[in-house]
Amino acid sequence: MKLLTIIGARPQFIKAAAVSRAIRQHNEDSGPLTKLDEVVVHTGQHYDRNMSAVFFEEMEIQEPDYSLDIHDSSHGAMTGRMLAKIEEVLLNEKPDTVLVYGDTNTTLAGALAAAKLHIPVAHVEAGLRSFNRKMPEEINRVMADHLASVLFCPTDAAVKNLAAEGISQGKPGVAVVRTGDVMLDAALYYSKKSAGRASLFAPESPWRKKLEDAKDRKGFALATVHRAENTDDPERLEGIFAALGQIASDMPVVLPLHPRTRKMLAAGNSKGLGNHTNLWMLEPVGYFDMLELLKNCCLVLTDSGGLQKEAFFFKKPCVTLRDETEWVELVENRANVLAGACARTIVEAANTMLKRKVDFDMPLYGSGQAGLLMAKTLSS
Ligand code: UD1
Ligand code: UDP
Repeated sequence: MKLLTIIGARPQFIKAAAVSRAIRQHNEDSGPLTKLDEVVVHTGQHYDRNMSAVFFEEMEIQEPDYSLDIHDSSHGAMTGRMLAKIEEVLLNEKPDTVLVYGDTNTTLAGALAAAKLHIPVAHVEAGLRSFNRKMPEEINRVMADHLASVLFCPTDAAVKNLAAEGISQGKPGVAVVRTGDVMLDAALYYSKKSAGRASLFAPESPWRKKLEDAKDRKGFALATVHRAENTDDPERLEGIFAALGQIASDMPVVLPLHPRTRKMLAAGNSKGLGNHTNLWMLEPVGYFDMLELLKNCCLVLTDSGGLQKEAFFFKKPCVTLRDETEWVELVENRANVLAGACARTIVEAANTMLKRKVDFDMPLYGSGQAGLLMAKTLSS
């Protein structure tokens, strides 16, 4: 059976790495079950070396069969160009199923191109909702879910969200499968490999000593910021950076900066940036570095979807720099707190979370076998 995977943005490389590994394992162990022949399309949405190639190398993702090189344009233009190019690929490859991930413009273009050609769509990370239609991601994921015929849900909340929109197991032509989260599969597998291979922690790295010294004192916080709702709103960006600066006066804050955020800061979108010696702004880091930063930090501050869960996987409290989250079970279980973009609220939330006792052992995201269940489902 031919499966065509469409990816293009950083979190999709990480999720697809886990699923592609599971597909290879499934093919080796499948016995009488159908084998999956995977063709990979990279739309090009993310293209810098440290936003794309580094993940293919570290995570041993197969080279894309098609690289479409589409990026850096408005939502409509980007999605439209992807739609046209993906349609050409689908007409050429004639896959049995198209696999899309998450909620980016790549996801929407892939799902729409396939559905228009009557090719079944499988959606990884189906059913997530922020209920905020101002987020481009919310539009993308709602559309992808309604176009998909196989919906792989990471959480119980996701299954319920789909049911509320009339998408549930038993509906003709639809399979809703609670798989658990493939990001847990990825974290479990690659965190066994990252220790000796994270460049920030290499013996010759100048960061190694700084990070170890920070750990010997109060510890360090790990932060990421990239959501359009934060980067494109000067007031929110300023609030977040003012908060990170204040936290950095207490403990170092390691901030691998998404290129979108770097560009917005360079354009003067945050006056709150100031000059904080302990706010360590880095280029985006590879997955091995990220895993080691997660293992070694004492707090995560982020507006990333993926990082909220990784904080939980590595038993670190998380402050989310947003007003809502799709990963509601983290907030319900007190592992995460929503702090928005107001400096005072963020600093207070950080202090609260540093002291909070959290039960990190709850199996909210499955057992790290989500990819295998997906492969089995797709082949049956
Ligand atoms: C996209 C997704 C978002 C996801 C994020 C993961 C959409 C609408 N948004 O947001 O859901 O959380 O990826 O990181 O699809 N840029 C570079 N180099 C790169 C990539 C981006 O310089 O390799 C800069 C460019 O200026 C680009 C901007 O970042 O225009 C935004 O990139 P884009 O892919 O449009 O959106 P993200 O903010 O990355
Ligand atoms: N990530 C990374 N390097 C970085 C920042 C993030 O490897 O510099 C990883 C992170 O650990 C997680 C994924 O990228 O696995 C999350 O992607 P991102 O925050 O870009 O997107 P989102 O999850 O919000 O869609």
